[in-house]
Amino acid sequence: MQLDLEFVRSQFPAFSEPTLKGWAFFENAGGSYPCKQFIHRLTNFYMKNKVQVNYPYPASKLAGELMEASYKSMADYLNVEESEIHFGPSTTQNVYVLANAMRPMWKDGDEIIVSCQDHEANAGAWRKLADQGIKIVEWHVQAETGLLCLEALEGLFSDRTKMVAFPHCSNVIGHVNPVKEISQMAHKSGALTVVDGVGYAPHGFPDLKALGADIYLFSLYKTFGPHLGLMYVRKDLIGKMKNQSHFFKEGISRSMLTPAGPDHAQIAAASGIVDYLDAVYEHHFDEKATPAQRNNALNKLFREHEKMLLDRLLDFLRSRDDIQIVGPENSEARLPIVSIIPGNKNIKKVYTILTKHQLMLGIGHFYAVRPLMDMDILTEPGVLRISFLHYTSMEEINQLIAGLKVALDT
Ligand SMILES: Cc1ncc(COP(=O)(O)O)c(C=O)c1O
Repeated sequence: MQLDLEFVRSQFPAFSEPTLKGWAFFENAGGSYPCKQFIHRLTNFYMKNKVQVNYPYPASKLAGELMEASYKSMADYLNVEESEIHFGPSTTQNVYVLANAMRPMWKDGDEIIVSCQDHEANAGAWRKLADQGIKIVEWHVQAETGLLCLEALEGLFSDRTKMVAFPHCSNVIGHVNPVKEISQMAHKSGALTVVDGVGYAPHGFPDLKALGADIYLFSLYKTFGPHLGLMYVRKDLIGKMKNQSHFFKEGISRSMLTPAGPDHAQIAAASGIVDYLDAVYEHHFDEKATPAQRNNALNKLFREHEKMLLDRLLDFLRSRDDIQIVGPENSEARLPIVSIIPGNKNIKKVYTILTKHQLMLGIGHFYAVRPLMDMDILTEPGVLRISFLHYTSMEEINQLIAGLKVALDT
């Protein structure tokens, strides 16, 4: 089965927007285009339901129901329970709140392992706990490859290790870490895992039950939806954490980790992402299936399409001896988040030429300062980042390769 790209792209207004015509979008790791189902829900909410929620009058009652529907539909797709889903303003803020909620679970001198492959969102807040008596143990990446090595992790555990924080897929290195295996290692040592799934989730929602992480976070503005962070927290953990909300919210698990009060409209509209996924499923498959099964089928479809494009891009990049690829050079264990460094050209000039070719890319360190430092890569100017998703076409990859050729050869 092949992904029907025309159908997929018809679900994203950006692809028929006149001002974007001709521009190929390769900064998806920074934020994806939103799907029309989400935009429709958001607009509708603002038009019809923008009142305080959960009163008995119809507009308010429906507003509450729409929010509930998002918790439920996201939980079903991720194969977890509704009570385990938390929506906060962003992943950075979710981790910050989480770190404060979890600190009281630990004693002075307890240890947490924090990877050096993370975006600062899943790094800084944990390291700040050093000021509150927690010993931070750093899990460095291999300088040559940028990979996190499991043998190195093995040696970092002690009988005081309480948690391991690491990314499912780094936003500059692109390698997919074996979350299940790492979680099993952590659990054997009595430690929890906190996984940043922001880089991974746009390429296919994980089956969180199968993955086995205790806490998993990602950002919905990178998965076709609103500017919110979604956090899965295994249900038995909330009761052990310190309430971060108003005192009278103690015991209300949905509130305890979201002190700011959630954005009602955006939460209500988040189920538009699932509407989109359902539409793609129904377009490609006849079989009835549970949301988790749909998700698995879609993942395969998305992955195959992305891999075909990624192979074409990596073939080109490998054929050039003036390009350094950061992270794995083949598509097996990586996602299409490809950072490159043009060896003998000024990276900013290369970037400018690419923009002239209507290529929308990223440049810089992308808040992934620690992995780049471990790899001895200058964070200024940083790397050129090419990131794409299942809605990207081979024509766009060809446009990118043509632009790269000009930028590198002039
Ligand atoms: C891998 C990764 N983790 C975390 C974040 C932070 O997410 P947010 O903007 O929702 O705080 C980003 C944002 O770019 C990211 O790429």
